[in-house]
Amino acid sequence: MNDKQLVALQAAKYVKNGMLVGLGTGSTANYFIEELARLTRDEGLKFTTVASSTISAQKAQSLQLPIVALEHINSIDLYVDGADEITPGKTLLKGRGSDLVKEKLLAKAAAQLIVVADASKLVSHIGQNFPIPIEVIPFAWQLAKKSLEAFGGVGELRPNAAKDGFWITSHGSYVLDMQFDKNLDASTLNALINNTPGVIEHGIFCGLTGVVLIADNGTVSEY
Ligand code: 5RP
Repeated sequence: MNDKQLVALQAAKYVKNGMLVGLGTGSTANYFIEELARLTRDEGLKFTTVASSTISAQKAQSLQLPIVALEHINSIDLYVDGADEITPGKTLLKGRGSDLVKEKLLAKAAAQLIVVADASKLVSHIGQNFPIPIEVIPFAWQLAKKSLEAFGGVGELRPNAAKDGFWITSHGSYVLDMQFDKNLDASTLNALINNTPGVIEHGIFCGLTGVVLIADNGTVSEY
């Protein structure tokens, strides 16, 4: 069993009968979804899920997990998702993919957010390993980029896989991948980006995390 799988199994222990559970997106979240299916099958656990992306919804459906649409909920009990970076203060960087908007909605709606990752995701500051993904309304991208540059942002629109156009998120947005001065702390950066016209959502998750589960060479630690 690899570390991502191990940590996902640990997170599944938090799921109790009757819960509404948010499903994250990514390889670690996929292991969690698979474990939920096993718990239903082998132990008769009963819960409902809501997905943070089309891909997670498809996976849940393929495993016959009960699923409701995001527009039908106003709170959830538990949200389990991976992250790209995790700081000692439990601030996250997420959104390497295309599903930031639903991920942040579920993180905010959850009574508890559990982050599952292997030790490679631990960083000293946000932006250490990846630029900040910032979803922007397509027609606003130049204006948003200029505003972000005014407080030191450097970056470009994310190209599509074929490199002949721009990446489009699940919600039809473009993504600016931007780097900022590492001395700009995450909560200041969070506020500055939130306050930028044309920005729909971005990858810094501040003050939302409950528990962080980290697997490192076969041992899971809880923070
Ligand atoms: C997607 C995410 C993922 O949770 C993050 O990229 C981690 O993925 P993985 O579990 O595959 O390492 O934020 O938007």
